[in-house]
Amino acid sequence: MTPSGTPSGTPFSGVGVGLRRPHLAQVAALKASPVPFWEIAPENVVGQGGTRHRQVMQILERDPVLTHGLSMSMGGFDAWERDVLDNLRGFLKATQSPWHSEHLCWSSFGGANTHELLPMPFTREAVQHSILRTRQLQAELPVPFLFENVSYYAELGAAEMSEKQFLAEVLEGADCGWLLDINNVYVNSRNHSFDAKEWLEGMPLHRVQQLHIAGHAWFEEDQLVIDTHGAPVIDPVIELMQWVLPRIGRAVPVLLERDNDIPALEELLAERAALQKAYDVALDPLSVSGPGSGGSSRG
Ligand SMILES: [Fe+2]
Repeated sequence: MTPSGTPSGTPFSGVGVGLRRPHLAQVAALKASPVPFWEIAPENVVGQGGTRHRQVMQILERDPVLTHGLSMSMGGFDAWERDVLDNLRGFLKATQSPWHSEHLCWSSFGGANTHELLPMPFTREAVQHSILRTRQLQAELPVPFLFENVSYYAELGAAEMSEKQFLAEVLEGADCGWLLDINNVYVNSRNHSFDAKEWLEGMPLHRVQQLHIAGHAWFEEDQLVIDTHGAPVIDPVIELMQWVLPRIGRAVPVLLERDNDIPALEELLAERAALQKAYDVALDPLSVSGPGSGGSSRG
C-alpha cells in the first residue's frame, strides 16, 4: 500500500545530492547532470534574483529535482501567508517535483522565526495538531506531502508517548508520506539510547518515499551526537541505510545532505558515488536499474 495520493512507480531512485550555493555556478555550467537528481529548498530560490536565481533555473530546466522546504513550521501555530503558499505552489509546478517535504517540527512562534528545527512535544494534543496542519498544507499543494523525522536533543515537556509512537500516529492520521532521515534516526538512537533497527521495525515503512542521509559530529566530552551535516556519512549510518532499503521494498531515492564544511563538488560527488554503490548492493535482489545509474527522469 502506498499513501493515498502518492504516485506509485516513481522514476526517482538512486542517490542524489542537496544542491548548495557554493556549487551553483559549477553545476549550472555542466552539460549534463552529474547526479540522478538534486534536492532544492524553495526558500533558496523563490524571491531571489540575479545570477544565483538564473543558475538555479538553468539547473531546474536540465536536471530532475526533488523539493524540500525549511520554513513552514509544520507543528507550529503561525498561519501560512497566502503569498507564501502561492509562491510554493508555483515553485512546485515549475520543478515538477513528484512530492514536497518539510520537517515534523516547529520553528516559528508569534511570527518570529527561530531558524531551528525544534521538536514537537510527544503528546496526544500535538499528534492531532500535527495531523491538522499536515492536512491543511496538503490541501494547498499540487503534489503529495511528506514529512521528515528530525533529530532532537531534549523532550519538550512531559511525553505521553514515545517519539516512535508520535511519528507513526501522525503518519497514519495525516495519511501522508514519510521522508525517512536515516541519520536522524541514528543520531537520536545514540543520544536517547535505543537500538535504531528495533526503532525502525514496526514503523510504517510502506509510507517511506525518500531517504535523507548525512554526516554528524560526536562530542566525546558531552557524550552527545550533533546532527551537523558537516562531515562525510559514517559507516554505521550507511549500514543502516542498507538495512532499511530492502525492508521498504522499493528503490526509493536517497538524498545526501551537506550543509556545513561543504567540500568541493568533486569530493561530494565521490561520496555520492560510494553511497550509490552501497545503495545498489542493498537493493540488488530488487533489480535496481544498473549500478550507478539511479535511473531517474522527470515525470
Ligand atoms: Fe534531513
